[in-house]
Amino acid sequence: MEEYIMAVKQEIRMTICALFFTVISTGSSMLPVDSSASTKSAKQLPAPKLESSPRGQILALSCASCHGTDGKSAGIIPSINGFSAEYIETALKGFKTGARPSTVMSRHAKGYTDDELKLIAEYFVTVSHNTK
Ligand code: HEC
Repeated sequence: MEEYIMAVKQEIRMTICALFFTVISTGSSMLPVDSSASTKSAKQLPAPKLESSPRGQILALSCASCHGTDGKSAGIIPSINGFSAEYIETALKGFKTGARPSTVMSRHAKGYTDDELKLIAEYFVTVSHNTK
C-alpha cells in the first residue's frame, strides 16, 4: 500500500512537471513577434508543427537540466538542438554501450531502453523544429 501511494505520488509529480514544461515550451511561441521582423515573417507561411510522443517529452525532462528544454544547452554542455533524430539516437546508444566515451552521458543513457532513447531523440527534433 505504502509503495502504491509512493508510486502514485511520483506519477502526479511527473504529470505536474510535464504540464509545467508544456507551458514553458508553448509559452515562447505566444510572445509578441519583434516588430522589425513582422513584415518579413508575415509573408512567410509558418512551418507546420511537428508532433512527437508525449512520453518522449516526459522522458526528455531529465535532459533539460543540462541541455535546456529545447536542446539549446547553457555553458559548456554541447547543444543538441537542430540535430537529426538518427544522430541523437546513435549518440545516445553509443553512450549507453560505451562505444562513444563520455563523462556523464553514459550514466544517463543507461537509464533508458533503446525504444525510449528513440522517443527522446524524436522529441528533441520536434522541439528544435517547432522553436526555430
Ligand atoms: C548532467 C548534465 C547532462 C544531462 C542531465 C544530460 N546530458 Fe547529454 N551531454 C552532457 C555532456 C557533458 C555531454 C558531452 C559528453 C559527455 O561528456 O558525457 C553530453 C552530450 C550529449 C549528446 C551528444 C552531443 C553531440 O554534440 O554529439 C547528446 C545527443 C546528448 N548529450 C543527449 C542527452 C539526452 C537525450 C539527455 C537526457 C536523457 C541528456 N543528454 C542528459 C551533459 C548532460
